[in-house]
Amino acid sequence: MDVTVFSSRSYDETYLSSANAAGRHRLRFLETRLDARTAALAAGAGAVSAFVNDEVDAAALATLAGLGVGLVALRCAGFNQVDLAAAHQLGVRIGRVPAYSPHAVAEHAVGLMLALNRHLCRAWSRVREGNFALDGLVGFDMAGKTAGIVGTGSIGQVMARILIGFGCHVIATDPAPDPGLEALGVRYMPFPALAEAADIVTLHCPLTPETRHLVNAEALARMKRGVMLINTSRGAVVDTRALIAALKSGHLGSLGLDVYEEESHLFFRDLSGRAIADDLFARLLTFPNVIITGHQGFFTAEALASIAETTIANIDRFAATGAPLHEVSVERLAPAAEAESSSALSSASSRARSGEPSGA
Ligand code: NAI
Repeated sequence: MDVTVFSSRSYDETYLSSANAAGRHRLRFLETRLDARTAALAAGAGAVSAFVNDEVDAAALATLAGLGVGLVALRCAGFNQVDLAAAHQLGVRIGRVPAYSPHAVAEHAVGLMLALNRHLCRAWSRVREGNFALDGLVGFDMAGKTAGIVGTGSIGQVMARILIGFGCHVIATDPAPDPGLEALGVRYMPFPALAEAADIVTLHCPLTPETRHLVNAEALARMKRGVMLINTSRGAVVDTRALIAALKSGHLGSLGLDVYEEESHLFFRDLSGRAIADDLFARLLTFPNVIITGHQGFFTAEALASIAETTIANIDRFAATGAPLHEVSVERLAPAAEAESSSALSSASSRARSGEPSGA
C-alpha cells in the first residue's frame, strides 16, 4: 500500500523503514504537518500516517477521503487531534498506538525532577566556564519527601515505583485507584488534598474536560510554598498564566515541563534562527527554576521501535481487512457527541469530548 507519512523526521524514517523491512508498503516521508491545506499531498496514497500535532479535522479528512485515503495511522496513543465523527461519516478509519513505553515518559519526568532539584543545567554550564562555586545550587533529599502523582495509569504506575525506590512518601489521585499501588503504600486522596500535602506534584493524567487547567491559580495557591511541579502529560492540564504568576511570586519553587498548551506552533521543529513569537513561552524561559523540554518524554529507542511496529501492523491489517489493528472508532465519543452531525463538531469539541490520552 502507498502510505504518505506526515510530520516525518529522520527518526520516523529510520524506525518505520525498519518496521517495513519486508517492503509490504511504499512509504513516502513528508516533513509537512497534516492539516486541511496539506492533505492534498497524500494524492495516490491509500493510507496516511500522522502525529500528535497534526490537525486531522473535518476539512482535512474530507480531502483525504476524496483522494481515496481510507486510513489515518496515528503514530501516537492519543487521538484528540482527530475529528472522529467526521472520520466516521467519511468512512476514513483511524488507527493508533495504544501503548508503547510507559518507562520512557516516567523516566523523563524523573530526569526533570532531578535536574531541577540539583540544578544540573546551571551546574553544568558553571563547570564548563571554570566556575566551581556551589552557591545557589542547594538541593533537597528526595528521600522522605511527599510526592503526589496525578493519574496512576501506565505511566503514573511506573513513576510511583521509581519514587518509592527513592524513599518518597507517595500519594496519588485517580478516579480508579490501583490496588497494587495501594499495597505498596501509595495513599489515594482527592486532588485538593494531594495539592496541599505534596512537596513534588507530577502530572500523568490525560487531557479531558475535567483535567483542563486542573492546575490553575486556585490549585497552585493550595500547594506548599516552594513546591516542585512536573508536567509531562499534556500542556492544557495546567494554566500557563497561573504558573507564571506563581513563579513570579516565588510560591512555585520549580517547574519542569515536557508539554505546553500551544506547543503545536513550536515543538518538533528547529526554530533556533527565529524570535519566539509566543510571549508566555518566552516568559517561562526566563526563570532560572524552570526546565522545558520539547515533548520528548516518549523519545527512547524502545518506544520509537514499538510505535513504528504497531503503526505498520495497523497498516498491514487495514490492507488485509479494511480495518486497522488498533482502531479508534466513533464510539469513543460521548453519546451526546454521537448524536450531533459531524459538521457541527469542530475538531476542538471532538478533542475535548474524546477524553482520551492525548500525548505522544
Ligand atoms: P493511562 O490512560 O494509562 O493513565 C491515565 C490515568 O489517568 C488513568 O489511570 C486515569 O484513570 C487517570 N485519570 C483520568 N482522569 C483523571 C483525573 N481527573 N485526575 C486524576 N487522574 C485521572 O495513560 P498513560 O499512558 O499513563 O499516559 C498518561 C498521559 O501521559 C497521556 O494522557 C498523555 O497525555 C501523556 N503522554 C505524554 C507523553 C510525552 O512524550 N510527554 C507520551 C505519552 C503519553
